[in-house]
Amino acid sequence: MTSNQHVLDWVKEMEELMTPDKTIWIDGSEGQLRALREQAFATGELTELNQEELPGCVLHHTAKNDVARVEDRTFICTSNKADDCMMVNWMDPNEMKAKLLPLYKNVMAGRTMYVIPYCMGPIGSPFSKVGVEVTDSIYVVLNMDIMTRVGVKALRQLGDSNDFVRGQHARADIDPENRYIVQFPEDNAIWSINSGYGGNVLLGKKCFALRIASYQGYKEGWMAEHMLILGIEDPQGNVDYITAAFPSACGKTNLAMLIPPEVYAKQGYKVWTVGDDIAWMHIGDDGRLYAINPENGFFGVAPGTNEKSNPNALHTTMKGTIFTNVAHNLENNTVWWEGLDKNPPEDVQEWTGLAVDGKEYIANGGKLAHPNSRFTAPAANCPCLSKEFNNPNGVPVTAMVFGGRRAKTAPLVYQSFSWAHGVYVGSAMASETTAAAAGAVGVVRRDPMAMRPFFGYNVGDYFAHWLEMGKKLGDKAPKIFNVNWFRTDDEGHFIWPGFGDNMRVLMWILKRCKGEAEAVETAIGYEPKPEDIDITGLDGVTVDTIKGLLDVDKELWLEDVKGVEELYAQIGDHVPAELHAEAAALRERLSK
Ligand code: OXD
Ligand code: MN
Repeated sequence: MTSNQHVLDWVKEMEELMTPDKTIWIDGSEGQLRALREQAFATGELTELNQEELPGCVLHHTAKNDVARVEDRTFICTSNKADDCMMVNWMDPNEMKAKLLPLYKNVMAGRTMYVIPYCMGPIGSPFSKVGVEVTDSIYVVLNMDIMTRVGVKALRQLGDSNDFVRGQHARADIDPENRYIVQFPEDNAIWSINSGYGGNVLLGKKCFALRIASYQGYKEGWMAEHMLILGIEDPQGNVDYITAAFPSACGKTNLAMLIPPEVYAKQGYKVWTVGDDIAWMHIGDDGRLYAINPENGFFGVAPGTNEKSNPNALHTTMKGTIFTNVAHNLENNTVWWEGLDKNPPEDVQEWTGLAVDGKEYIANGGKLAHPNSRFTAPAANCPCLSKEFNNPNGVPVTAMVFGGRRAKTAPLVYQSFSWAHGVYVGSAMASETTAAAAGAVGVVRRDPMAMRPFFGYNVGDYFAHWLEMGKKLGDKAPKIFNVNWFRTDDEGHFIWPGFGDNMRVLMWILKRCKGEAEAVETAIGYEPKPEDIDITGLDGVTVDTIKGLLDVDKELWLEDVKGVEELYAQIGDHVPAELHAEAAALRERLSK
């Protein structure tokens, strides 16, 4: 399939290490993928779903102990000891290799090694990058085919170059004690072993497109961020693009695919999705920042997705989709998850495979689908996919948005005073933990730029890189905002309706970028005048509600600055002085 000697040599090295019985190169052809699907049906690795209702869709279950990313088993290994800082789980590369090599030795004996060449980003884009993943899992092959551009076209993009990310995944016997997800950014290499969960084994995604790519961006002068990319088209047909970072499972996919509320739809506004999870951003010839989505599909959280919350996502999953750890509706051989509709099937297998009466099971407090159950769906299925999805140059970014789940502290929206202040705002992001990562749920944790699990190098250097990018962009830099959809009242109910109505906030953001909206200068940044958030047609929301949502409690904020300063101290002396100065300036404004 290729004459690229670098690729051939490395695959040979992998064969010698893992000694598979057989090696199959994935060419990306439908015939080859169909044969693999058939094989996985025969072994039970995949279940074919009702082909009339869900054509091309299949169901998969991971091991019960293997349902999320594992941050404590995820390592960055560089020769730079300074990368060992708060939020980067670092280990010396030689030490790590010595530890892991025995685990890989002969691990594929009696099995098949699949070689998956893949391209992150549109084929032909100067910003795209190629990876090759070897794996012994058909599930991984089929997921990679949806999430990336696989096969001959990826090898063509690579040509004779040695610049590809080498990913080695072996699932072995799902031994959680020996589960490792390891990035070697200096070697362009990823080693993943003893997991079958997407975020740990679809190596193009978090491992490459965030951890390795953030390091590449640092070295090469671009940015790899945990950000969705969406476009808002006005009635004249002009489209503005926004990127937004939220911690895992804060509704990024929903925001990326939002349905404009009536008030905007009537006027002819439309929303287009470019990406729901990751943005690679470069400075274009005109000096503006341009974003591409390196992925080719969506690996979204299933529970909560329904006709109302995200009809576009639901539609996207209706064909050619791999469902993982959702419930199997045995009544019609389809799938079900909490929040899909109000009627759990009676005859159903919950996500671990137990046949139960769905209604009874839920009534007794059980969950039929795992809270982090997923769909892997082709971007091409998405009804609101942007026409620019495959544009090799990407889309120009007008605004960047940070957000998190904060019950009380953060207002509905505010704008940073400057790029440097915006970097502070991003560095101060915090959220309640969710089911997307293993560990306790509901604890508030700091998550700078939503990158906490995805930094590929020293976090202080990462902040410095952001500041540097702002200097290069100058007055062409996107404006930076912070939003919080999750403020609650005293009974713990969300005050803001969220979902499609979040567009009302995005509209103020775009107006600010174009100089068409005024703002109130507060201690924390520029806030909208409450009447400037359009609430036409919103039941139960008044200007007073918005006023409440924009309220800033100075005591809480002083606490928050303290938290950020503590975080900076933990990260260490690579945190730029400019960010310490931003924290001090904020404290001073709050103390006035
Ligand atoms: C994801 C995550 O799967 O952030 O996108 O966990
Ligand atoms: Mn994510």
